[in-house]
Amino acid sequence: MMNAMDTKRLTTDDAARGAAIIASGGLLGIPTETVYGLGANGLDSAAVAAIFAAKGRPQDNPLILHIPSADWLERYCQDISPAAYDLARRFWPGPLTIILKRKPIVPNTVTAGLDTVGMRCPDCAVTRAIIAAANVPVAAPSGNTSGRPSPTTAEAMLEDMDGKIDAIVDAGPCTVGVESTIVDLTTTPPRLLRPGGVTLEELRNVLGEVAVDEAVLRLMSTNEHPRAPGMKYRHYAPKAPVTVVSGDAQGTARYISAHLQPGDGVICFSDYVNFFSGFSTQAIGPADDPQEHARHIFEALRAFDHEAVKRIWAQSPDATGLGLAVTNRLNKAAGFHIISL
Ligand code: TXA
Ligand code: MG
Repeated sequence: MMNAMDTKRLTTDDAARGAAIIASGGLLGIPTETVYGLGANGLDSAAVAAIFAAKGRPQDNPLILHIPSADWLERYCQDISPAAYDLARRFWPGPLTIILKRKPIVPNTVTAGLDTVGMRCPDCAVTRAIIAAANVPVAAPSGNTSGRPSPTTAEAMLEDMDGKIDAIVDAGPCTVGVESTIVDLTTTPPRLLRPGGVTLEELRNVLGEVAVDEAVLRLMSTNEHPRAPGMKYRHYAPKAPVTVVSGDAQGTARYISAHLQPGDGVICFSDYVNFFSGFSTQAIGPADDPQEHARHIFEALRAFDHEAVKRIWAQSPDATGLGLAVTNRLNKAAGFHIISL
């Protein structure tokens, strides 16, 4: 048990205070363009252990390191291929995590004993300023309690972390809304481990062939070991069971409205809300706006935990472009319970 702390609210003008918390081994809520993170000094094993404790995170699930620029890669990684710098030039700062071979300086607590480490340069000026001023890489998982949807606002992170962290920097809602794309460059061909704000199509434009890890597309059974250990957990799960319905938007709206029972809730496109009148809905934006879907998906999943809905239905976007990331989060929330029309 940790003693409850008085979690301070910082603003984007407080980079120096944020850096001091990191440098002294504390826990800091950090904004990024994807989701809020739970940051600590990534070279300090005790601080990293406190991240796992605050989240209730399984010990075998490694953390990624956040850096202010690609120049820092060589401090923590070895055998860095030109492809890594190609990706950094094209997508950093931005929603992409690159898996590389680690140097011994990276503690085992960060990598959960793997010989690789995930590196990310977030597109958020205050967070890069904090990392640069602390002059250490910041280990940061998403700022949710393990198993809950990732937080895309400071308020959402405080629902899970108030009293468990030293401070949080509030930079407003995240602009991307789903966690970073993870690509493993230690395998041939490179492998997509988690879809996110940088799309598979964009990665292939830079890298050529990119394999898609099976954990992205289906439920892993308990004896399987996906390459991103975190992908095996039933993440993003709201309390009520979720059923995803995929197909064209008209068809999924009709199907769901025909199957709704009292007490059900619906995650839907904003232009289809009228199919579900009398039911609780969470709209994720117009059917043709994938960026809006990404910004609202976690908020929609979290919102239903504040209501006593019995079951949740979801209209699924197409799994192309940014839609691969959004459908992956929805499908995981549903335990891959998907009805394809
Ligand atoms: O957008 C993001 O990436 C956010 C923000 C805060 O930067 N962070 C985030 O961290 O989503 P987390 O810990 O919630 O998810 C990181 C994922 C986990 O599934 C973990 O298993 C995987 O990355 N991972 C970390 N290090 C890895 C490694 N060396 N090899 C394979 N997968 C790794
Ligand atoms: Mg997470």
